[in-house]
Amino acid sequence: MRIGYYQFAPEFGNTEKNTEKLAAVLAEAEADLIVAPELATSGYLFTSREELFACAEPVPGPSTERLTAAAGKSGCAIVAGIAELKGNKVYNSAVFITPDGVEYVYRKVHLFNGEKLYFTRGGGLDVMDYRGVKLGLLVCFDHMFPEAARTLALKGAEIICHPSNLVLPELGQLTTRVRAIENKIFWVLANRHGRENRGGKKLRYTGCSRIVSPSGKILSSAPESEDRLGIVEIDPEHARSKKIADLNDLFKDRRTDIYELSSL
Ligand code: ACM
Repeated sequence: MRIGYYQFAPEFGNTEKNTEKLAAVLAEAEADLIVAPELATSGYLFTSREELFACAEPVPGPSTERLTAAAGKSGCAIVAGIAELKGNKVYNSAVFITPDGVEYVYRKVHLFNGEKLYFTRGGGLDVMDYRGVKLGLLVCFDHMFPEAARTLALKGAEIICHPSNLVLPELGQLTTRVRAIENKIFWVLANRHGRENRGGKKLRYTGCSRIVSPSGKILSSAPESEDRLGIVEIDPEHARSKKIADLNDLFKDRRTDIYELSSL
């Protein structure tokens, strides 16, 4: 299976232009799956609820329909971040679109900082089948919660697709490598680059998207501040055994009899 990331700097508020960029990437990518950044269609640094609602779209909607057409033509699926309008709420979502259409919408479970002012948090972690492989989706700050990646891995995820707008230097690039190792899964971090300076707030995004193997090897990495399409060939079989030593299996050795995660 060929999987990749597309790192770029979405133009704030220009959903049509950003979506066209993603469609063009699908047209050129010789891959089964490309992961794009968090809020790839809209940009990130909203300064009001009104501004967010002006950029948000229903699913299906114009962006997901454009991406469905592009995926259908190229045969390559995409996971991309979108501001998803549903009723009177907006979710920080990641859509999984295959050549057959929108297969799944993941709504970010752990909102970061100012996102809490405008977005509604999501409530589920599911695993999708795609071309014989199981995919899990997380969005950016979710990486700081090992329980989220672990839940997906225990549900069978072999590849975690991770659209991001990381701002804390080096943190996400480090933790995602650890999450890949501790769950023995592939991890595709698709981070954005560039800066946003809006309404007196400033953010600098850290780029350095990467694909990590179940043993923690960095299979592809992007620079800090350039657009980059990175694609690698992987064998999903490498994520299927959780054995790390003759007598150790990362999942079977878990001491669920002494962990108290749900009650603390
Ligand atoms: C983030 O969750 N966008 C840092």
